[in-house]
Amino acid sequence: MRVGTEPVFAPFEFPKEGSKDLTGFDIELIEALGKKMGYKVEIVSMGFDALIPALNSGNIDVVAAGMSINEERQKAVTFSEPYYTSGLIVMVNKDNNEVKSVKDLEGKRIACQIGTTGENKSRTVEGAKVKAFNTQDEASLELKNGGADAVIGDAPVIEYYMTKAGKDFAKTVGERMEAEPYGIAVKKGSKLAGDLNKALAELKKSGEYDKLYTKWFGEKK
Ligand code: ARG
Repeated sequence: MRVGTEPVFAPFEFPKEGSKDLTGFDIELIEALGKKMGYKVEIVSMGFDALIPALNSGNIDVVAAGMSINEERQKAVTFSEPYYTSGLIVMVNKDNNEVKSVKDLEGKRIACQIGTTGENKSRTVEGAKVKAFNTQDEASLELKNGGADAVIGDAPVIEYYMTKAGKDFAKTVGERMEAEPYGIAVKKGSKLAGDLNKALAELKKSGEYDKLYTKWFGEKK
């Protein structure tokens, strides 16, 4: 099973320290699912906006990339049952006392990752100058370097970043926006969707899913 991902998205997919191999919640989950389904899993990295085209051209069989299930994507691909609930959040520089939520971003410079729901949200902000980058980390660097006033991105990824490089210069503001369920995407109509759902249900039943969840996110709230 060839699994496509965009690998700069800790704690879901990111390189292991000092190695090219990937780790993270999505990676361990898809490996466990593949094992249940009787497949050898091969991870293929690419840009986030290349994932759905790669699925539809047959270069990969599934996408495991913290991909939010939404109507627009459902026109192009089939999703598994949701396996994680995310949501967007705003990140600004520590010394920014002006921006308290997404409402304060009108006319401001917003950095985000190309092709993501964070980019979609950024583009709905009145008069904003949207700067879309290949990775979430590049968007965060743009904030650090003063090229953006805020970043809009997935809360669990930004919160993780806040425990690492982000803690020196950034903070999150406001509440998480609407809930975004993550799903594993497959080619429209592929029977892999049913097989993934069955395997996911088994991992939930056996406690393996909870174990992975706690390993990466701590106790479930
Ligand atoms: N959840 C967001 C979306 O679906 C961002 C996902 C980005 N994932 C990644 N591996 N870079 O648009």
